[in-house]
Amino acid sequence: MIGSKTEPVQAGTSKADGRGLHTGRDRLVFPLDVASLDEARALVTLLRDEVGVFKVGLELFTSAGPDAVRLVHDAGAQCFLDLKLHDIGETVARSVATCARMGVRFLTVHAANGSRALTRAVALTRDTDTMLLAVTVLTSLEDADLAELGLAGSTAVAVERLAHLAVGAGLSGLVCSPHECAPLRAALGARADGGPLLMVPGVRPSGAAANDQKRVATPTDAMRSGADYLVVGRPIRDAANPPAAARTIAREIEAALLSPPLSATGDPHEATRMKRPV
Ligand code: C5P
Repeated sequence: MIGSKTEPVQAGTSKADGRGLHTGRDRLVFPLDVASLDEARALVTLLRDEVGVFKVGLELFTSAGPDAVRLVHDAGAQCFLDLKLHDIGETVARSVATCARMGVRFLTVHAANGSRALTRAVALTRDTDTMLLAVTVLTSLEDADLAELGLAGSTAVAVERLAHLAVGAGLSGLVCSPHECAPLRAALGARADGGPLLMVPGVRPSGAAANDQKRVATPTDAMRSGADYLVVGRPIRDAANPPAAARTIAREIEAALLSPPLSATGDPHEATRMKRPV
């Protein structure tokens, strides 16, 4: 069933609003975008008290393998294994099953695997704690790139089409840019109503450098647009005091989660967020 896996409430989770919402820390994801286990260990040690989820991507996984996942779990955090799997159905299925056995909380696959392969992958995670997230169109691709690939329509249209495909196949959520959150919420529904979990990179605290992220948003705006988890890397890594920078972002996430309902703000996602399951 779509979005049927809910995120367990972790130790230290705020009950302040009586709804059992997660803390901002639980929803802050830090990417371990480094090449060695030693560098990853240093970052996890530095940030484990401030960040609930660490993302292991292709660079670290191709260099350190499952040890990188174990490092995150040993620190008491959740692991987002961002492998963006895309292959024939059999290979994707076997890889998804292996990742689920490692106990990762989130795992990415490309929506472009197609619904048959996605449905098969979902079935393999059913009795596990792993939530499958779909990558639709990489944010590095523009409309002209899709045309070059022979795909008709804009990236926005392709994102929505692939998001429907992934959610229809039973995936738990999507990775999307902050600016895709509102259209995806409008198309696929609020999280509280069984809509997909939205994992959102491209977030920059006010005043921070955009780096190579083209379409950025502040943590508040991203959460208000319907994001569930924010992936924030360089603004934390490159800060003078990384733990303090992470704490500030976590507080901002928490404030957005507790912000007033739709009628007060005019934000179409407020009302649903207040009912978000935990
Ligand atoms: O440093 P920064 O906050 O830009 O970190 C971005 C992280 O999010 C990187 O790990 C990157 O791979 C990932 N990401 C992204 N854009 C996407 C999907 C993932 O920047 N569309």
